[in-house]
Amino acid sequence: MANIKVIIGSSDNMKELEDNSVNLVVTSPPYYNAPFDFPGMFTSYDDYLGLIKRVGKELMRVLAPGRVAIFVTEDVRINGKLYPIVSDLIHIMVYEIGFEYQDKIIWRKPEGYIRISRRSGVLIQHPYPMYYYPDNIYEEIVIFKKPGEFDRTKVPQSIKEKSKIDANKFQVEKWYLSVWDIKNVLPSEKWSKYTAAFPEELAERLIRLYSYYGEIVLDPFLGTGTTCAVAKRLGRNCVGYEIDLELKDAIEERLKVGYGSLFDSDRVEFIIREDAKTLRTKLREEIIRKLNNKKQG
Ligand SMILES: C[S@@+](CC[C@H](N)C(=O)[O-])C[C@H]1O[C@@H](n2cnc3c(N)ncnc32)[C@H](O)[C@@H]1O
Repeated sequence: MANIKVIIGSSDNMKELEDNSVNLVVTSPPYYNAPFDFPGMFTSYDDYLGLIKRVGKELMRVLAPGRVAIFVTEDVRINGKLYPIVSDLIHIMVYEIGFEYQDKIIWRKPEGYIRISRRSGVLIQHPYPMYYYPDNIYEEIVIFKKPGEFDRTKVPQSIKEKSKIDANKFQVEKWYLSVWDIKNVLPSEKWSKYTAAFPEELAERLIRLYSYYGEIVLDPFLGTGTTCAVAKRLGRNCVGYEIDLELKDAIEERLKVGYGSLFDSDRVEFIIREDAKTLRTKLREEIIRKLNNKKQG
């Protein structure tokens, strides 16, 4: 039986969680003010990094010693300027908060889904040096460890068996490499209309590789609920924070609240906090306004 708790409120305050109570963090924070997802969400890049720092501090408090916090993210270009989100995240988590920098995996998206952009296509019209602007087909999966040791020998044998990783899949799908080829969520897929969702396959690999059956997984930027949906399916408990009240129905549907049979003993609980916001409608209006300006310009 899995317990899922979704808190609609800001994850820079995780007062619902006790110190050292979480076994794994899997998340993808907003990509600053990314034009097609979060335009104008933050007043400045410093404001954005401030949120990352406050959430990072809370993660250090709630995560159990020796366990990992995993961020899926990438640098973002806004109005031609590239913001170094990944380097800043590593700097904050390691040098300002005290996590250990454990690993980095590149999540490579299939080339077939990327069309040459206006930016990279410049070289076709000007096939000369200094006209090269590549299109990005990857995101980074950055793994931070909270100092301390996790004693694997204390895990009961029955839990180990329930958490066993399929060694054949590990080899065939090349999980052992630091580059993972996984299909991204396409614009035509259901959950992508709400926010930049990551694929279930990505969450599944991370949850299988870094948590045991029955443990607690946390996603402080839950979005459409991918992390908790996969955690539930894999027999892990999950806590998710999402600031946008307008995503509640999508998360609810994803976690199939009320759809469970009499025998489905999983429990899903929602808490709506006073700091919840309504964001999606405003963000969508802003995206449309920007697209119209572009067309006219
Ligand atoms: C990149 S999306 C996460 C997508 C998610 N991985 C999925 O698969 O759907 C980031 C989410 O963080 C939310 N968010 C932004 N600021 C937040 C905050 N302070 N606390 C909690 N959630 C926040 C955004 O509303 C957005 O839904």
